[in-house]
Order: sequence, then structure tokens, then C-alpha cells
Amino acid sequence: MIVRCRARTVGCTDQGEGVPPLVLLHGFPLDRTIWHEQFSGLGGRRLVAPDLRGFGDSPASAGHYTIDDLANDVVALLDHLAIDTAVVAGLSMGGYVALALAEHHRERLAGLVLISSRAGADDAAVRAGRDEAIRVIAASGGRPVVQGMFDRLWAPATPATVRRAVAARAEAVSATALVHALVAMRDRPDREPLLPRLGGLPTLVLTGAADTMIDPGASRAMAEAIPGAELVVVEGAGHLPQIERPAEVNRALEAFLRQRV
Ligand code: MLT
Repeated sequence: MIVRCRARTVGCTDQGEGVPPLVLLHGFPLDRTIWHEQFSGLGGRRLVAPDLRGFGDSPASAGHYTIDDLANDVVALLDHLAIDTAVVAGLSMGGYVALALAEHHRERLAGLVLISSRAGADDAAVRAGRDEAIRVIAASGGRPVVQGMFDRLWAPATPATVRRAVAARAEAVSATALVHALVAMRDRPDREPLLPRLGGLPTLVLTGAADTMIDPGASRAMAEAIPGAELVVVEGAGHLPQIERPAEVNRALEAFLRQRV
């Protein structure tokens, strides 16, 4: 569905019933359709998945934004849908947004799930890589950048049909939306100091064992730094475990929601 919140148009799927809802935030340069296996496999709960600015059915914003702005967009969506508190699960860039929510809007969180993500800011090499990607997009459009990223996204066993379907949607993202998101990620703050303060917030950290985009070590470090956090490492999955190993990921999410929230 398409909703209007605080003057923004937002593509969003809102399915099922039950509190607290599970809000699913996609990564870069993806959209809410990356959660289709959760929409079909996780019963008995309300699931809400928005498209972040510039992705899927959500138009690109007029100018640059920050990861904190994306967190404010999620709060606006929760308000619009009359959701007081939710478990927020973010994948990669979506995890950066989930951590911004934990920092600035903790009262809206009933739980936190960080998938294929990390808390630290970009180091100099990653920032330089973002700048180079922005230059390439300005010169040649988004395709080379998206294709370069997709070469590293998957575990070897992930079927070509799955890879192609996700890549086709990512290749349709506008150059403006790609650049805005790259800038927001490049300039995001270091949220490692936040982690020890998240004790009391039920937290699941999940990573694919074969993720070459974001080292599974970053997930281990987050799980160690957040008091009481649980770590799940999904064998045979790369950067998108919820697509590559949906049954394992859904089992982990179900168990976390049942036992901890
Ligand atoms: C993502 O999957 O959202 C990105 O790989 C995150 C990033 O580039 O830092």
C-alpha cells in the first residue's frame, strides 16, 4: 500500500495482527520486497515493512538526508499506523536506522533485531569507496555500482534465479536515491558507544556466516557489547540471510519474539 505520513509518500506492506508488531527495514539498494519470505513464513504477528526514501514505492527525497532522518520517517509511520511500540528489525543499512531508533526513540522499541549490520561508523577506506561510488554514479549511472555490489552479496549456493530477481529491482533504483543513501551511510555516526546502554532492550543479532559485505565479526562484536543480546549465525548465508536461508531466519525470529518480547 501507499501511505502519506508527514507529507511524505511511503510504500509499505502492513500484514497480520498481534502486538507488538515486527517492523522490517531493508538494506541498500533494496526495498521492502526483500522480506517476502518473512511475510509468507511468519504467522501470528503483525508485520510492517516500509520502503525507505527513494526505494521501492517511496519517492526519492528532494535533498540529502541522514540516517537519523530515516529513523524519524519510521516514527512517523508508526504514528500513522497507530503503533505505540514495535520490534524493529533492520538489515544492513536498515540496521543503521534501527540503531538510530534505539538511540533517539527507544520508547518506541519493544525489541531490536540487527541483521547483517554493524554499529561502527565508516572508516576512511569505506568512506573513500562511497565517494568513488558517487563519482561513478554521476559519470555512468547506478548500474555499475549496483552490479559491483551484487557480485559480493550472496553465499555461493544461492540460486541464480533468486539473485536475478533481487538485482533487477535494485538496478531500477534512481541515481539520486543511490547517491542520497550512500551519503547518509557515509556520514552516519559511530553507534558503538550506544551498545552497552541497550541492556533491557531484547536484542537479537543475526548474520550470515558467509557474508562478505559486512564481516560476521561485526555482528559478534555487537552481540558481545549489548547486554543480554543473543547472536545467531546462519550457515550457508551471505549478506541477505532472510532470502538465502528463510526457514532458519524465520525460526530464529519466531523464537526471539516468543521467548524475549
Ligand atoms: C547494505 O546492505 O545496506 C549496505 O551494504 C550497507 C553498507 O553499504 O554499509
